[in-house]
Order: sequence, then C-alpha cells, then structure tokens
Amino acid sequence: MSKYDEIKKQLIQSPKTWLVTGVAGFIGSNLLETLLLLNQKVIGLDNFATGHQHNLDEVKSEVSTQQWQNFTFIKGDIRNFEDCQQALTLENLNVDYILHQAALGSVPRSIADPILTNSTNISGFLNMLTAAKDAKVATFVYAASSSTYGDHPALPKVEDTIGKPLSPYAVTKYVNELYADVFNKTYGLNATGLRYFNVFGKRQDPDGAYAAVIPKWTAAMIENQDLFINGDGETSRDFCFVENAVQANILAATAEDSGKNQVYNVALGDRTTLNELFNSLVTALATNEVSYAKTANYQDFRAGDVRHSQADISKAEEMLGYQPEYRIQQGIDKAMPWYIKYLTKPNN
Ligand SMILES: NC(=O)c1ccc[n+]([C@@H]2O[C@H](COP(=O)([O-])OP(=O)(O)OC[C@H]3O[C@@H](n4cnc5c(N)ncnc54)[C@H](O)[C@@H]3O)[C@@H](O)[C@H]2O)c1
Repeated sequence: MSKYDEIKKQLIQSPKTWLVTGVAGFIGSNLLETLLLLNQKVIGLDNFATGHQHNLDEVKSEVSTQQWQNFTFIKGDIRNFEDCQQALTLENLNVDYILHQAALGSVPRSIADPILTNSTNISGFLNMLTAAKDAKVATFVYAASSSTYGDHPALPKVEDTIGKPLSPYAVTKYVNELYADVFNKTYGLNATGLRYFNVFGKRQDPDGAYAAVIPKWTAAMIENQDLFINGDGETSRDFCFVENAVQANILAATAEDSGKNQVYNVALGDRTTLNELFNSLVTALATNEVSYAKTANYQDFRAGDVRHSQADISKAEEMLGYQPEYRIQQGIDKAMPWYIKYLTKPNN
C-alpha cells in the first residue's frame, strides 16, 4: 500500500479538521473535494479575488449531502488579521492542519501590480502564519513556488540550490519560505512549503489576462481561436496534475516530525516543451471529438519567465512518501472533458 493510501485510510478512520485558504480557487477547490470525500471537516476562507462561487458549487455536486455539511465557508480576506483569526477560532472546531493556498498567482500580474501582490502574498501570508501560531495549529502547509529557483541555471531543480528571483511574484514566494522558517525557529510552528511546478487540472481558470498556459490554450483551441506561443516554443516546464499536488498537501500535513519544516518540490520530475504541450492538447481534444487545425503563432519571450524548469522530486519521495499518480498526458486526458463541458456550456 502506498503511503498516500495508508494516510487516506487513517484519515477516514479518524477525521481531522482542516483550514483551506483560497478554497474557491483552482488548487483550493481540488483540495476541498478530496478532503470532503475522505469525510474530513473543512473550513474554507476566500475573498473571491480570483476564485469563484461556481468552483464551490461544483464541489458540492461531487460530494454527498452529509460530506458537504462538513464544510464551513468564510468569505474573508487574508489581508485582515481578524479574518485569519476567525477562520481558526470557529465554535467547536479546533483546526488540526492548515493548507494555505490563498495568494495572487501569476508573474505578469505581479509585474503589473507589485504592491497588490505583495500585500496579499506577504502581508496576508504573515497574518495567516501568525494566526496559526497563536491557535497552536499542528502543521501549516503553504503553497510555495518553483519561481523561487529564479535565475539559477541548474537542472533538475534541487530544493537547496536557488538563484535570484526574476519577478515580484517570485520575491513574495521566497519571502514566504523565509517567514515560515523563522516562525519555526522562534515560535516552534511546524510549517512546510510545497514548491509547486505548473499545476494544472479541472477548475483552473481559463479566463482573464493572467490565465495559465494549459487552460488558456485549451480554451483557445475549443473556441477555434488563434493561439500564441511566447518565444520559440522550446521553453520547457514540469507540468504537474493537480491530484499529485493534492497528494503532496495531505502527506505534508500528516508527515512525521522528520518530514516537517521543510520545503519540497511538487512536480513530476519531467520536462515538456511548449511545442510538445501544444501537440498533446490537440491530440487530447481530438480524442474528445474536438478538432483544432490551426498552427501556433510565435511571439516574443515574456518578461520574468525562466527558460527551463524541471524538478528533482526525490526529497518529497523519500521524506513524505510522495508518488505522483498521474503523468502529464494522463492529467491532460483527465482534465479535458471538464474543459470541454465548462467552455461549451450555455452562458459561459
Ligand atoms: N497553479 C500553479 O501552477 C501554481 C504554481 C506555483 C504556486 N502556486 C500557488 O498555489 C496557490 C493556489 O494557486 P491557484 O493556481 O489555485 O490559484 P487561484 O487563483 O485559482 O487560487 C487562489 C485563491 O486565493 C484566493 N485569494 C486571493 N487573494 C486572497 C485574499 N486576499 N484573501 C483570501 N483569499 C484570497 C483567490 O480568490 C483564489 O480563490 C497560490 O498560492 C499560488 O501562488 C500555484
């Protein structure tokens, strides 16, 4: 039995209480769905900055009525300390684990508005960390980022070897790691960072200027629009299906002491170029009887983007028992029917 299966069995036998921040977003709502299906109690905090009520409604439709009753939602803002405190002091609910996802993602957004990104990703993070310390939460797991590797050229990326950040967003995610480490040293809070590498899957928002590449291209293909690749298409990324990221969160929260207060890469350990990704998406759509016959248009490289990214995941494998269950194509194949349904439904 895998470590993940073992932990899921234990959680079903002895349910815990979890706070998921950013619960109405992409990764947060996938965490919510898995936790509720495991009969856990979940408190969710979100201000709908980039998350959506329809993500919560969809989770409701995926779980039983009884499981949904284990969920309490608080509309609140992590930039307000009182909202963070409130999420941890609800009547009769002692939070065991926090999965902190709330942040403003996107490198280009941070370049356009570094002050807003800073206030959410650093001040909001510090508020949540302080509230967790005050409430004596067992483990604080937070969404870190592969952007912390910055300008360091080494491949694959190993946790201890980072470069200088290339964007305001990357600065904020690195500062999160520094604060988490200091809170462990000064207050004894268990805080574990998960450096996500290009997570994708259902409910990742295809709309807006700051959409990530997989949902953005999938939407363009389904709507038969022109599609643009930044650079020559040989830029590469370690794309990680969201269910692998969910696994990493649950393993990190429930880890033995030796696995806590660490930073882990959360990825596959593979590298896929944008040109390869383009072809994979076209193929997956064709399997679902959606054809895209246009070729890609190439445009300038984007500011703040790193050229190649690939994780070494051996630390998470060895210390957490992390075993990604989905390769990139399996993840794309699983996500595609959701995108087709979402993007072709009336009034979208
Ligand atoms: N998706 C990825 O590939 C990726 C990669 C690296 C890191 N991350 C990190 O993972 C986390 C989740 O990302 P995601 O892809 O699900 O993005 P998302 O935008 O779908 O989710 C973020 C959620 O946080 C909420 N939020 C934002 N500001 C808030 C505030 N002030 N108060 C309360 N809630 C707030 C949003 O409304 C949204 O629901 C983020 O911390 C992001 O930086 C994501």
